[in-house]
Amino acid sequence: MPTSLCVYPGSFDPVTLGHIDLIERAAKLFPNLVVAVLNNPDKQGTFTTERRLAMLAKACAHLSNVKIDSFGGLLVDYMRKAGAGIVLRGLRAVTDFENEFQMAQVNRQIAPEIETLFLMTSPDYAYISSSAVRQIASFGGDVSTLVPACILEDVYQAYR
Ligand code: PNS
Repeated sequence: MPTSLCVYPGSFDPVTLGHIDLIERAAKLFPNLVVAVLNNPDKQGTFTTERRLAMLAKACAHLSNVKIDSFGGLLVDYMRKAGAGIVLRGLRAVTDFENEFQMAQVNRQIAPEIETLFLMTSPDYAYISSSAVRQIASFGGDVSTLVPACILEDVYQAYR
């Protein structure tokens, strides 16, 4: 029987205002929400896992029922260990659908007791992606409308 513990997994390299919008909305729907950063040693991102966790912790500090964690390996293994039954993912546009559909079906195949739920990103944030943030920041552009204000300095610092 799946539990109502919800996990929002992702790369969060770095966390954006789109992610925060989703986290805030999911935190109202579930008693407890875990935001889980994939720690992939084969694919080091721009920010280390520790930095991503620290940025998420800062950006979610106002949400008392949100916990930040990291995981390696299969998401469903992490979910089972955590006793979580719901995976949360965001959909920004039709272009997200194919990848998300495949991921949800694979996860369902290997762990049928775990459900994937999708929330539509608010239109205000539908154009934001971590890769756009990285690209703009790497060229010294302004990302203040794309990431939470409390992590702005952390993002710029990575490119100094
Ligand atoms: O923010 P992202 O990069 O779209 O997140 C993707 C993520 C981390 C949710 C996904 O790659 C994942 O769950 N990786 C763990 C490996 C896994 O469980 N793979 C099976 C599903 S395809």
